[in-house]
Amino acid sequence: MRVAFLGLGQMGSPMARRLVSAGHEVAVWNRSREKAREIEGARAEDTPADAVRGAEVVMTMLADDAAAQEVALGADGFAAAMAEGAVHASMSTISPALSRRLAEEHARRGQGYVAAPVFGRPEAAEGGKLRVLAAGPKEAVKRCLPLFDAVAQQTFDLGEDPPAANVVKLCGNFIIASMIETLGEVFALGRKSGVAPEALLDVLGTALLSGPILAGYAKTIAESRYEPAGFKLRLGLKDVRLVLATADAAEVPMPVASALHDRYLAGVAQGLGDLDWSGIARLAAESAGLDG
Ligand SMILES: NC(=O)c1ccc[n+]([C@@H]2O[C@H](COP(=O)([O-])OP(=O)(O)OC[C@H]3O[C@@H](n4cnc5c(N)ncnc54)[C@H](OP(=O)(O)O)[C@@H]3O)[C@@H](O)[C@H]2O)c1
Repeated sequence: MRVAFLGLGQMGSPMARRLVSAGHEVAVWNRSREKAREIEGARAEDTPADAVRGAEVVMTMLADDAAAQEVALGADGFAAAMAEGAVHASMSTISPALSRRLAEEHARRGQGYVAAPVFGRPEAAEGGKLRVLAAGPKEAVKRCLPLFDAVAQQTFDLGEDPPAANVVKLCGNFIIASMIETLGEVFALGRKSGVAPEALLDVLGTALLSGPILAGYAKTIAESRYEPAGFKLRLGLKDVRLVLATADAAEVPMPVASALHDRYLAGVAQGLGDLDWSGIARLAAESAGLDG
């Protein structure tokens, strides 16, 4: 299939490589040009509009709402250059509100829109092991499935209303972020009480934290190993903000999310924005008077 892939950060680069390996004809664009030239077998383009011309599907994996909006709908946005009938699969973690707007803007131009945020870190993207949360018109989702198959082990069908997928993604990230905070607090409590992190990890990992995600974060926190970041702390703050904005609009009190917001904000304020998002555990340790 002819695909355009826009946004070649930690997630986008391995995803674009997977599409090339799966035999698709891939055009790529990234704000910092050199990353586009590093995707072997893909055509590097200078503007989003050039990349999407002739594409049947345009996939985006950009940092946040501001980037996603600018690249799609800004003065040089690609929506105006996308063919009628082409589909935009928006894979970034963005707000349900922007997802709704993108769906409307594409529909106005006779184009399709699928919200398709993902679970999984860069290693999962590299191995084609992401999980895609897809929502959009049936035909548009169907068109994207072979591409999702190239990057993911599973695609969930969340119905025809795109923002539903973004809400589910935010729910998932909120659970992970709250567990990271909880783990940060318990490892601080253990250390302060003379329990070695390895001993606590051994017990919690075996008895309570089944599943690779929580066990993986517990290990990272036990070892205080927050670099290199798989998912940056500043993007974690972005996601907690999105959770709170979505909850605010829906009138859903989320007191744990409010506390998490302060934790992530403190992390960014203290210059830790480029650590992994599990780095908030360092703040939990430091507030207990321990070394991070
Ligand atoms: N990392 C993870 O584990 C993970 C997992 C699931 C979902 N996600 C989501 O996936 C998305 C990408 O995350 P990532 O980890 O790949 O982030 P990243 O490494 O920071 O990459 C961000 C990408 O967005 C581009 N970008 C940022 N601001 C821009 C702007 N104003 N205009 C145009 N392009 C802009 C960057 O371009 P430059 O290269 O020029 O900076 C880069 O291509 C985010 O929404 C994130 O929440 C991440």
